[in-house]
Amino acid sequence: MTKTVYSALQPSGSLTIGNYLGSIRNFKNLQDEYECFFNVADLHSITVPQEPKSIRERSFDLIAIFLASGLDPEKSTLFVQSHVPQHAELSWVLNCMSYMGQLNRMTQFKEKSQKSEENLNAGLFTYPVLMAADILLYQTDLVPVGIDQKQHLELARDLAIRFNNKYSETFKVPEGIIGKETGKIMSLKNPEKKMSKSDEDQNSFILLLDDEETIKRKIRKSVTDSLGNFDYNDEQKGLKNLINMYIAFSGLTSDEIVNKYKNENYSVFKEDLGQLIADNMKDIREKHSQFIKDKAYLEKVMREGAEKASYIANKTLRKVYKKVGFLPR
Ligand code: AMP
Ligand code: TRP
Repeated sequence: MTKTVYSALQPSGSLTIGNYLGSIRNFKNLQDEYECFFNVADLHSITVPQEPKSIRERSFDLIAIFLASGLDPEKSTLFVQSHVPQHAELSWVLNCMSYMGQLNRMTQFKEKSQKSEENLNAGLFTYPVLMAADILLYQTDLVPVGIDQKQHLELARDLAIRFNNKYSETFKVPEGIIGKETGKIMSLKNPEKKMSKSDEDQNSFILLLDDEETIKRKIRKSVTDSLGNFDYNDEQKGLKNLINMYIAFSGLTSDEIVNKYKNENYSVFKEDLGQLIADNMKDIREKHSQFIKDKAYLEKVMREGAEKASYIANKTLRKVYKKVGFLPR
């Protein structure tokens, strides 16, 4: 039996190279081996305030980025979450089985809800349940995500097991795929913090669609340390983060990179890294600019994706409704 992969990103801001390395970049290799679903999580995005126009633009943008990063709609199902109503429907059933206490422990909720009054809404609180519904609807085996989603994934597993125990075997229990070096790319300005598009300091992140000069400039300005020795360890977090990106884009090991640069200044390494990232991102940037012009094609991809996704999602949802005791229509 072919295994199933599911992942999603929110259309809530410009993607960073952290999003790319933590999630999107891994999708392409998976599509050759597995049944893959890659989704634009627009329902998730309204858990914090958004401009309607921006959700529309960024949803197109994400589909274009999926395509630009090498996803083939013949192999992977690319779709928009709100086009498949079963996500919201399953989420309701799972909400009724979720413990407030467990949701209260979600670190992302704690962080985001403290940011503003508007963020303190019930949707943000139950967001991880919707994410569980996303994953469980497709009988997903594997979920490629960054480390920040690990706790949410754990909830999806708990809910699957809880439902199966209560009603009989219904859901697959999913596993995460989290990159060792790329699961958490750190801010270029503060290596204690995750690289995030919502950071006020524009130099703390590289955007997926930044041009070559911008990428190089941001890497040049990134924080390292004053120790001056080129090493890969937890005392030199800034450098470690840069080396992790170098590993991801070059395929070299940390030892090979340390050997290559141990007699050089950090600046030499930074020049090479900036160039390496820029070279690797060039193709996506160019392809994205082509795909984004063709709205009709993007609409076709998402429409066909939604059709395929709802067929499968519906099979799971019918089973769930029946087991819970809802009458057939
Ligand atoms: P989001 O932008 O929150 O929708 O995140 C989309 C995906 O990118 C999720 O799988 C996140 O775990 C991943 N991600 C976000 N930021 C980073 C980061 N700094 N490093 C690695 N992965 C990340
Ligand atoms: N919550 C994820 C994020 O913010 C996005 C997401 C929604 C997701 N549903 C998912 C990721 C299902 C993996 C699987 O990044």
